[in-house]
Amino acid sequence: MAKQLNHTKINGDFKGKDILSLEQFSPHDLKLLFAATDKTKKIAQNNTPTDSLAGTVTTLLFYEPSSRTFASFSAAIKRMGGQTVEILNPKEFSSVAKGETLEDTIRTFECYSDAIVIRHPEIGSAQKAAGAAFFVPVLNAGDGIGEHPTQALLDLYTLYEKFGRLERLTGVMAGDMLNGRTVHSLLKGLSLFKGNTSYLLSPKELRLSRELFAMFERRGMKLIEIESEKDMPKNADFWYWTRVQKERFAKIADYEKVKNRFVVTPELLKTYGNKNMILMHPLPRVGEIETSVDRDPRAVYLRQEMQNGMYIRMALMTLVLGKMV
Ligand code: NCD
Repeated sequence: MAKQLNHTKINGDFKGKDILSLEQFSPHDLKLLFAATDKTKKIAQNNTPTDSLAGTVTTLLFYEPSSRTFASFSAAIKRMGGQTVEILNPKEFSSVAKGETLEDTIRTFECYSDAIVIRHPEIGSAQKAAGAAFFVPVLNAGDGIGEHPTQALLDLYTLYEKFGRLERLTGVMAGDMLNGRTVHSLLKGLSLFKGNTSYLLSPKELRLSRELFAMFERRGMKLIEIESEKDMPKNADFWYWTRVQKERFAKIADYEKVKNRFVVTPELLKTYGNKNMILMHPLPRVGEIETSVDRDPRAVYLRQEMQNGMYIRMALMTLVLGKMV
């Protein structure tokens, strides 16, 4: 059966759908995914042998470097009993080196597999790949400065686990609002719910694009742009710190000017944090959270947040491939 048009809303049914953007999700879809993730979390924690994905093969096609997204997709699929074809750096190790187009590369791997997970440096590349695929669903593992939907799903799940809701939350998002795809996807997710406020802490050069800013405001989200830690609220439910995205700068001097303007230190947490908040980061960090903060129980980035990445991908792959968790 030919696949549905890409960018289709999930509408309660993940089977065969491309996963390209948080725009495809409704609160109900998130609820379904989180319920499945509660189950995959137990499967992983108890090492329960599971064959939900037995007989399926998923291609992981990563044109950009990755540790967590790549390894957690790979581990997630295997923990559910599925298998993977793994192509890291296709520019060097596939026919892309001979000049093959993205479209032909996608059509090749869909002949061998049941789904394709792609990470690519160009915004819109995952949409392009999904449009090229005749049969199999394509999952966006990061398209340039565009989106990173599975990261946002795990971040939303982490928030939901902690607070039991995704509405009326106040967050501080810091770092690279302009180029950070995880921020874009997470804000899209939060904008589905009422009463959310985000303080966006960044140098002016790294502000959210005016298009995205206007879109979130239209949706009723309260966005407060700040350029100094001194303007941080003390009642935030979460801080979402991010790296300045060096690889998106044309001139390295421009990166040097804005890198690590904001660093989480024990003092910053003491001054502006509160007992019940959590500190999140999609990782990798390159100095913007001091390691002395890592053992603070509120710091979830090296623990729950990262573990949830595998659980959510276990659930998502199973649902997209039309199987039961
Ligand atoms: C992020 C990414 O690739 O966008 N990493 C990740 O997948 N967790 C964040 C980043 O690279 O800064």
